[in-house]
Amino acid sequence: MAALNETADPLAGGAVGVAATGVPLLDTLVGLGSSAGVSAGSLLLYASAATGAYALWEQLRFRMARRRKDGKLVPGPERVTPFLGGLIEMVMDPYSFWERQKDAANVTSPGYSYNSLFGKMILTVTDADKCRELMAVNDPSRMLMVLHPSAKTILGANNLAFMHGPEHKAIRKSFVSLFTRKALSTYTQLQDGVIRRHLAEWLKKPEFREMRDDVRDMNQATSQDVFVGPYLDDPQVRAKFSRSYYAMTDGFLAFPICLPGTAVWRARKGRMYIFEVLKVAAARAREHIKAGSEPRCLMDFWAQKCLEEIAEAEEQGLPPPSHTTVHRMADAMIDFLFASQDASTASLVWCLTLMADHPDVLAKVREEQQRLRPDPKAKITGEVLGEMAYTRQVVKELLRYRAPAPMVPQMAYAAYPLSEEYSIPKGTLVFPSINAANMQGFPDAHKFDPDRMGPERKEDVHHAKNFLTFGYGAHYCVGKEYAINQLVLFLSIVSLECEWERQRTPNSDLMKYLPTIYPHDALVSLRPRAAQ
Ligand code: HEM
Repeated sequence: MAALNETADPLAGGAVGVAATGVPLLDTLVGLGSSAGVSAGSLLLYASAATGAYALWEQLRFRMARRRKDGKLVPGPERVTPFLGGLIEMVMDPYSFWERQKDAANVTSPGYSYNSLFGKMILTVTDADKCRELMAVNDPSRMLMVLHPSAKTILGANNLAFMHGPEHKAIRKSFVSLFTRKALSTYTQLQDGVIRRHLAEWLKKPEFREMRDDVRDMNQATSQDVFVGPYLDDPQVRAKFSRSYYAMTDGFLAFPICLPGTAVWRARKGRMYIFEVLKVAAARAREHIKAGSEPRCLMDFWAQKCLEEIAEAEEQGLPPPSHTTVHRMADAMIDFLFASQDASTASLVWCLTLMADHPDVLAKVREEQQRLRPDPKAKITGEVLGEMAYTRQVVKELLRYRAPAPMVPQMAYAAYPLSEEYSIPKGTLVFPSINAANMQGFPDAHKFDPDRMGPERKEDVHHAKNFLTFGYGAHYCVGKEYAINQLVLFLSIVSLECEWERQRTPNSDLMKYLPTIYPHDALVSLRPRAAQ
């Protein structure tokens, strides 16, 4: 009521004879308008006219942006929803949104379709050749990869995804040493231990339950142990590190606002703590290697490589490469922790559900495992892992069939000629669709069929260029071999240790974007498997 009295006071410059709306901003406008001799009705009329004009202009703008050289329009919604575009649908039902974009793209060749988001043009590209072409641009004046809106806040500005040019090339060259046969074999022993430890816990709860969080815990613990395990030797630091790592991954699922108390804020604080721990770990790893000791984790392998690179630069009278400082090593390790999380967790969940849905495939996996591992409790070595041809086929096929990272978004910083008929306008957010590309070329592509990856059909070789699960070009996934090993190890251990069943619901065949792709539900019951 006080507000009403105030607006009725002519000395307060208020709206004489005009009722307050109850909306503070509108009341102010009405007040201003009245003092200028404009009535509330006229103001509302102006506001509606301005909104209408904007909406009309937006329609025209998108019509222009969609126009191809042959006069046709890029397929997509007939009209854009003013201001928001496809936002509501994208948030409420992302699966249907992206499926519709892909379906719309199927009418052009190469396949592409448009939509809008907050007045910005987005372009979904489904053609595999074009997807590769776009992912390979990586040029700040033309097109660069973009991450989640909170990525810079959570991961820091030095994230690999924001890098390009010689510095990016040099650091990626250095990473090769992290995934040699010897390094992967060292990680195998660590992965085996973490998987078995978590499986033992899961088996204590035989009831049907959603497995996503359990799998995420296991994968997160694996990354921690493999990347920096020996340096998380203080239990308090380890516990806080794990909590901070969780906070970081949770930050990506939250609304992208970084204010005290928000998930993004906690994620940023988590990163700052992790960064400090990783700097100490990098320094300790260098001391460990300098003392002539063998590498025990990924950080050790990298410390070894960085020390070699520093020595080489010194010999040539050059400054050490920028990525070899303790600071930059810690930064990159944060990227590894993040990159190894979501996609791997999603694929591990797919592994459980697809095997439950395809008992014939699981039986063949078990047959191979029993042949190669007469003692299922013995630790799996890198050598045995390399012999699991069929289990590896299954993993490759599940990665093709359900690519967890469905697209790698790019921002067009200049007009980009996509085809003879169409140039992508500057400022467009471009989505090369990995899961559309993965379905091209492969016969009966929508069928889960691990035999296609076998020595007879060799579809993984024949259609390798369409298999884009791990991306393409300068940012191609550096952890691919490690990620595949993690899945092969998991499947080999779980197949001999457990029987499992999936409880199906009417939604079980749908998918969820979180934002990596998961089965809509993964209600699984695991029980110990009787020794065979
Ligand atoms: C199933 C699991 C995984 C999938 C499907 C996956 C997929 C991808 C994709 C699509 C990209 C972007 C590629 C591009 O832009 O062309 C990427 C980048 C990356 N991945 Fe993976 N990834 C997985 C697991 C991992 C793991 C376990 C690690 C770490 C050991 C890892 C480390 C990275 C890094 C560091 C990058 C950024 C590379 C750069 O920007 O230069 N990924 N990954």
